[in-house]
Amino acid sequence: MKIAMINGSPKPEKSNSAFMLRKLEALIHTEHEVSHYHINKYPVNEYLYREFCNMDILVLAFPLYIDALPSHLFKMLITLEDYMKKQRKKEIYVYAILNCGFYEGNQTHTAIEILKNWCSRSELCFGQAIGHGAGEMLNFIENVPLGYGPQKNLGKAIESLADHINLQNTGDTMLFSPNFPKFAWRFMGTHFFWNVSAKKNGLKKREIFNRL
Ligand SMILES: Cc1cc2nc3c(=O)[nH]c(=O)nc-3n(C[C@H](O)[C@H](O)[C@H](O)COP(=O)(O)O)c2cc1C
Repeated sequence: MKIAMINGSPKPEKSNSAFMLRKLEALIHTEHEVSHYHINKYPVNEYLYREFCNMDILVLAFPLYIDALPSHLFKMLITLEDYMKKQRKKEIYVYAILNCGFYEGNQTHTAIEILKNWCSRSELCFGQAIGHGAGEMLNFIENVPLGYGPQKNLGKAIESLADHINLQNTGDTMLFSPNFPKFAWRFMGTHFFWNVSAKKNGLKKREIFNRL
């Protein structure tokens, strides 16, 4: 089967979505042909839309933005909908990997509903979605083997997703948090990720709380 792995993170490098796609790809059977796309890094043109219409499977990995999809990804899907309606010749399954900044993965449920609606409008089959909380933790635990320690829940979800993709069938949505205490992540995330990111972007700590 032809599988498109589409990274929908606006980050050009080191995104959590890319991390999850790497983990998934390691479990995809070698008989499948996997192609990679990063829609914020390279322009999405007509050629690409047509290529998506010739896939058997689309895997969309993206972060939660304001309880929904990042706008560049949403825009791409709106255009793709037209192509799918006119050009698609076979059944295409859509799978999704979401991650969010909140600790609770169930924050992603609205975005999953949006994607399900898009699938039915585009006449595509919705395969399965997984939603991971505390996504910004992933790059800190890259060296932990999948399925162990803080990646225990992620391991179960990625395995389930890979099984359904390999067989092109449907599975239940899985929303989860890392196997790591919430209070410890709040402390670490605040001091070692969010404050550091703010500083890198020229913001003082108190400016994080500014309202527009
Ligand atoms: C503009 C913006 C909006 C966001 N909105 C949400 C949100 O509504 N809920 C949430 O839990 N996280 C939100 N986040 C956090 C991202 O989902 C989170 O940082 C994610 O891990 C980034 O994944 P990526 O590395 O794949 O881009 C937002 C981040 C940004 C920059």
